[in-house]
Amino acid sequence: MSSPSREQWNSSLGFILAAAGSAIGLGNIWRFPYITGQNGGGSFVLLYLIIVFTIGLPVMYLELSTGRFTQRGPVGAMEKLAPGSFWKIIGYLAVITGIGILSYYSVVAGWTIWYFIKAIFQGFGGENTGTAFSQFVASAPHQLVLLGVFLGLTTGIVISGIKGGIEKISMILMPVLFLLMIGLIIYALTLDNAAAGLKYYLIPKTSDFTKTTFIFALGQAFFSLSLGMGAMLTYGSYLSKKENLVKAGFLVVLFDTLIAIMAGLIIFPVIGGAPEKAGAGLVFVVITELFCTLPGGRILGALFFLLLTIAALTSTISLLEVAASWLMDEYKMVRKKAALIVSGITFVIAIPSALSLGASKSLSSIIKIGGEEKGFLGIMDFLFGNLSLAIGGLLIIIFVVFKWKLKNAEDELYHNADRFRFLSLIMKPLIWFAAPAAIMVVLGFMLFTGKTLS
Ligand code: PHE
Repeated sequence: MSSPSREQWNSSLGFILAAAGSAIGLGNIWRFPYITGQNGGGSFVLLYLIIVFTIGLPVMYLELSTGRFTQRGPVGAMEKLAPGSFWKIIGYLAVITGIGILSYYSVVAGWTIWYFIKAIFQGFGGENTGTAFSQFVASAPHQLVLLGVFLGLTTGIVISGIKGGIEKISMILMPVLFLLMIGLIIYALTLDNAAAGLKYYLIPKTSDFTKTTFIFALGQAFFSLSLGMGAMLTYGSYLSKKENLVKAGFLVVLFDTLIAIMAGLIIFPVIGGAPEKAGAGLVFVVITELFCTLPGGRILGALFFLLLTIAALTSTISLLEVAASWLMDEYKMVRKKAALIVSGITFVIAIPSALSLGASKSLSSIIKIGGEEKGFLGIMDFLFGNLSLAIGGLLIIIFVVFKWKLKNAEDELYHNADRFRFLSLIMKPLIWFAAPAAIMVVLGFMLFTGKTLS
């Protein structure tokens, strides 16, 4: 039931920037470049772009429509559209996935805080940036404290409420990040190896495709767009009927994709080709190298990592919001209690991730996925940041098509956006066939060919 007191966005710009804030984060700047580096460069980027617009955008529309129609988070939305049924599982999966992602995401976000502090107090010069990174992530006290600080920040903002917290922060800072990145791209392109780097990054070669390219591209698209776990659904639920969902959703996808591509345009010209070893440290190592040579690099480095921390915060806010809004809606908890409970649980789950980059040997190298040795954090990222999201995306499609009915979702989507109804011609086949088929093929492939992951 839509309660009259439900919080709403102040303006459609507020929603777009906040949803873009959820989408734009470590996924674009930390994860996209290194996953691209692990999966062959240009071909991965091409596949990624195709997936974003043929699978990502339709799922984005379904989530936003479901959220706005029901005015609820994922669990409440399922309960409202399919009372007392098993569909609620989609909602619970969303809550669990959100907490799973939030746990290891906060560890990486903690690194951005540390690099900000480091830029201010010490600068990046005079040391091997790779060694410095490895030593830093292997230090248990650093990892745990930074994790706590970052989760604390996220919790504080979520407690302060939708309007006061999320909207204002993203409204002011995302444009600054954008401008800074443009500047960094221009500088990176003047470097000697820029052309070779661009070639690797932008020109597809069929030989680059590996068995895991597709699952990683699909997972990255869902991850980057914050899809498959109810974040966009929840944000849509705070949106008023006046707004144009078609436009808002498209802009979010466009901005998010732009920022990811831009991140690659900074990183690959600096590397100048295929990265020798692309892992979770790639961006931290490469970008600090860039700041070492850049005039005024220390100040710009501080600004960059500060903005990255904030970009990460606007994403973790949405991750926490899903679980917290579930407790608020279903158990009538106050915002503060709900947020504190979720972040407390998340902190505990995050501990092994925080210790899995060297602090604990046994957690640091557990299994090989996609040719790369993964530790606890890598496994969490694979399970929650790839698999769970793809499954969640598939389930929301199935739910809308078979239970709620696509026509109802479309009525919500095109409400106040009548002139976009023609899009239905493209969206229908994508939602009915292409998107679910593609996701099922990927998931099936993974389940039935055990070797896929090694
Ligand atoms: N999209 C966010 C990022 O790119 C991460 C995220 C995933 C946020 C899923 C919410 C839900 O950083």
